[in-house]
Amino acid sequence: MSAAKAPLQVTVTGAAGQIGYSLVFRIGSGEMFGPDQPVVLRLLEIEPAMPALAGTAMELDDCAFPLLAGIEMTTDLKVAFDGASWALLVGSVPRKAGMERNDLLSVNGGIFGPQGEAIAAHAASDVRVLVVGNPCNTNCLIARSHAPEVPDERWFAMTRLDRNRAATALAAKAGVPVGAVSHVAVWGNHSSTQFPDFENALVNGQPAPSVIGDDQWLKETFLSEIQQRGAKIIQARGASSAASAANAVVGSVQSILSPTPPGDCASLAVVSHGEYGRPEGLVFGYPVISDGKGWHVEEGLRHSAFAQQRIDATTEELLAERAAVSDLLGA
Ligand code: NAD
Ligand code: LMR
Repeated sequence: MSAAKAPLQVTVTGAAGQIGYSLVFRIGSGEMFGPDQPVVLRLLEIEPAMPALAGTAMELDDCAFPLLAGIEMTTDLKVAFDGASWALLVGSVPRKAGMERNDLLSVNGGIFGPQGEAIAAHAASDVRVLVVGNPCNTNCLIARSHAPEVPDERWFAMTRLDRNRAATALAAKAGVPVGAVSHVAVWGNHSSTQFPDFENALVNGQPAPSVIGDDQWLKETFLSEIQQRGAKIIQARGASSAASAANAVVGSVQSILSPTPPGDCASLAVVSHGEYGRPEGLVFGYPVISDGKGWHVEEGLRHSAFAQQRIDATTEELLAERAAVSDLLGA
């Protein structure tokens, strides 16, 4: 019999919030890291949310999860990131109806520099960071700029929720179960300029545009529905997506840790090294292939002039966001 694994230290920021309330249970249950991997949850919150966080922790206890080896609740960045192998950066303010996600830059941007520094100083040497708090691409850029010691390939921002939305919409239009849709990636920013790449998506292994046979729907209805889906949920719920966002965090981590199935891709925003002509250093949504240990941006995909124009537009937005936060960037 092999020895039990040592517990994995997993930091969740904003753990008393909406997403946190769904996410921590899916980590504690073993769903995120597997049925033989014990975890310690390191939960960061701000002072006013500590009573609510204590309630969440009581509920975690009451689940009696065999894999949950400990819960640390703190307002201290050093304690939160101490020994962390995963840092899931959720804590921040969500947008309200009528706002774009990058309207949050001035509210949330300042959170991520100090967290980047604390990750560099206190996390485990194998730490990986997934930024969820919006605007997540640029918040990831800020955090990373304060942690130059942590290699580029350990930083991710979340486009998985957009990918899931796109897969569901394509499946509904094609009249197939969502599992028949693959190779869906979201290019660029997690914002209303994102490009959910229907051109390279597959339905039952065939190009989605030929299966769907309705270019106008793809270029207009589909594109705008995915770009605006977060806003539509805020309008309907009076609060931003939470359970689906937590589900996308689970999916993002699994897509990094598990080999990508042949013919498929993961959808993640990662630090650009100039792939597909995108500016270096931007945290850019790409199709990613993982072998379970490392990953790379998928090469060789082609885009029409229509798609290229959309990818250029989302690139411009990320450049403008980077310029807007220049005073928050580290070295
Ligand atoms: P929420 O307001 O319910 O919870 C946020 C939590 O963060 C609160 O409990 C708050 O106290 C805490 N917090 C605030 N500042 C903090 C700080 N400096 N350190 C630690 N914790 C802090 O919000 P939510 O619905 O859970 O959403 C969280 C973030 O995730 C928002 O920015 C939202 O826009 C974003 N989001 C991103 C995606 C995505 O796909 N990338 C999807 C959904 C939501
Ligand atoms: C989403 O996509 O649902 C989140 O980013 C929340 C938002 O502000 O849209």
